[in-house]
Amino acid sequence: MSLKVVVTGKIPTAGLETLLAAGLAPIAWDKDQPMTRAELLVAVKGAEILITLLTEKVDAELLDAAGSQLRAVCNVAVGYNNIDVAACSTRNVRVTNTPGVLTDATADIAFGLILMVTRRLGEGERVIRSNDPWQWGMHYMLGSGIQNRQLGVIGMGAIGIATARRAKVFGMKVAYYSRSKIDDKIATELGAKQMSFEELLATSDVVSVHCPSNDSTHHLIGAEQFRLMKKSAFLINTARGPIVNEQELVDALKAGEIAGAGLDVFEFEPKVNSGLLNLENVVLIPHLGSATAETRAAMATLAANNAVAIASSQAPLTPVN
Ligand code: DGY
Repeated sequence: MSLKVVVTGKIPTAGLETLLAAGLAPIAWDKDQPMTRAELLVAVKGAEILITLLTEKVDAELLDAAGSQLRAVCNVAVGYNNIDVAACSTRNVRVTNTPGVLTDATADIAFGLILMVTRRLGEGERVIRSNDPWQWGMHYMLGSGIQNRQLGVIGMGAIGIATARRAKVFGMKVAYYSRSKIDDKIATELGAKQMSFEELLATSDVVSVHCPSNDSTHHLIGAEQFRLMKKSAFLINTARGPIVNEQELVDALKAGEIAGAGLDVFEFEPKVNSGLLNLENVVLIPHLGSATAETRAAMATLAANNAVAIASSQAPLTPVN
């Protein structure tokens, strides 16, 4: 196959090997630093297939820079808020993502954040690292237990369900807010109760965000929602930053409207609102949801297999449009 395939960011070799094995010779960016926008607009010129990372904005400008021969954009991520899907569809450009392969890795991180923030693990680690004196005490650094507490999942897709499974094993009750009802068997297995958005916010002890980021979920959670939540509740976000109004989260935390937050993603990533940085009841990690070597290899392989399918005029494995 002699299609021009451009890989716009550094991906695991498993992905490149998949392309090569199918006879595609990718032009691949191999630096850890992402391309600048200017470099990107030059690199995509003449591409028939683009393999992109979530750090690249695929909009009308980039599609025009690529040219009308472009057939597909294969994102190496399950989220595709970096891609203007409507602009792709208008130009007959297929978009694919990588669902499934990062479900467990991301749910592990969501649950890790739940444990970290409720049991004050980040704060505790900072105490040890500070070299300040400390002493075990009956009342020292008490956290909140999660057993018999309610996890409220916003967006009960694969990652939401996988997080709920972990919560169930730890003795939590599960509630969810989702556009659609989940499979009865899964609902029974988890004892999961579907709730309205408002009821879920008002009754949950931990609210974990797992919905996609798009126009309808932008700032889904802000001042009004924090006021509905329990003062003892925690917010976890491993989905996308813009779903939560980050400044209003800072305000709510400072006002004691909620008890804490665990964040893997940020509204203006990689920038983090400076108001979060000195709050002890917040755990902040740099978008690590899918960051295991195995998961990243699987994501790159799936994106490459989507590219191979499209290059051979087959249906892509995980299409978005
Ligand atoms: C995704 O695939 O959307 C994840 O956020 C990547 O870590």
